[in-house]
Parts: sequence; C-alpha cells; structure tokens
Amino acid sequence: MDTSKGIGRQQRETRNGHRGAVVWFTGLSGAGKTTLAHAVQERLFEAGCQSYVLDGDNLRQGLCSDLGFSAQDRSENIRRAGETAGLLADAGIIVLAAFISPFNADRDRVRARLPAGDFIEVHCDCPLAVCEQRDVKGLYRRARAGEVAQFTAISSPYEAPLHPELSLDTSRLGIADCVEQVLARLRGGGVLAPPR
Ligand code: ADX
Repeated sequence: MDTSKGIGRQQRETRNGHRGAVVWFTGLSGAGKTTLAHAVQERLFEAGCQSYVLDGDNLRQGLCSDLGFSAQDRSENIRRAGETAGLLADAGIIVLAAFISPFNADRDRVRARLPAGDFIEVHCDCPLAVCEQRDVKGLYRRARAGEVAQFTAISSPYEAPLHPELSLDTSRLGIADCVEQVLARLRGGGVLAPPR
C-alpha cells in the first residue's frame, strides 16, 4: 500500500466494497436520463453503494451557471461535468451522469480522461417524436415556436454514440427493465465487486 500520498482510491474502494465508475447517460431532452439515473441510484443506495447523480439541473445552476447552449458552451459544460465525475469516481463513488452531451468528441474526451474501464456510456435512445410528445418541461413546444434557440434535435444537432456500452430504447422499455440492464452492466464490468 502506498501511503506516501495519503489515502488512495483503492483503499476507498476496498472499504466501499465496490469500484468507483462513471455511468454516463446521453440522449435527447426528455429521453429519461435523469429519471433513470435516480432510479439506478436508489437501487445502489439500497445495496449500500456510494453513488451520486450529476445532471444539467445541479451543474448548470452553479459550476456551469456561466454557460449556455452554443456548441462551445455545451463542450465546456461536458468538460467540467466530466472532470467533476472523474474526481468523484476517484473518491470511490459510482457517478451517474445525465447530460444530453450531444457531441461524440466531447463524450470521447471525457472517456479518454478517465482510467480505462471507468466510463460506461449509456445511450438513452428515445425517438424525437416521443420526447416531443412527452414534453415534460414544455421546452419542445417553445423550441418549435422559436422561443428557445439552439434546442437539441430541433435547431441544434445530437450525435448518437457509435459504440456505447449500453443502448436502451427508453420509448419501449419500462424504467424497471432499464435499471436492471444498467445494474447488470455494472455487475458484468466488475464495478459492483471490491477491487482485487
Ligand atoms: S448539454 O447539451 O450541455 O449536455 P445539459 O444536459 O447540461 O445539456 O442540459 C440540458 C437541459 O437544459 C435540458 O433537459 C433542458 O431542460 C434544458 N435546456 C434549456 N435550453 C436548452 C437547449 N437549447 N437545448 C437543450 N436543452 C436545453
């Protein structure tokens, strides 16, 4: 054990009984990213795991409050979110990060910044028509009316991941099925076991 730099990641993970990781949910607004992240968190909490949800709601009010929705600002938003997620994962936490994160390059940059295997990309793959039909926040209606600029999938692009660890059609699968698939991926990837 290297104690020269104080308490290390492995010590935290051994105490927690699981590894730190970043589960990165990407998809359109209304695709169910945040809902799924919180549902997974509930199961992890019940199982005694350390986890935390990061999303546009909590980051854009503080750390990223200076950023809007231009391509440049979204890239910076995802860079900061990725750095934050990486620190929390290093602290032994299973981070559930829910961001539209529309650009492949930005998500790939987050992946590349993290230790191999830490980044688990989950595509919440829900057709635009379904997200628009749900319109939980009324933003699609406003975007169609021209009241919200640069709205993802309406007037700003969304690049679907090319090789996500998991792809979930959230228009067809129920939330319970989605949660099970994420948990199975965490078990299969060795995240829910203590480090060797
Ligand atoms: S991201 O593109 O930079 O990853 P993020 O996930 O943080 O976006 O925030 C998305 C949330 O911001 C949406 O769910 C929606 O509630 C809100 N929002 C406000 N304006 C926009 C917009 N122009 N495009 C997309 N989402 C927007």
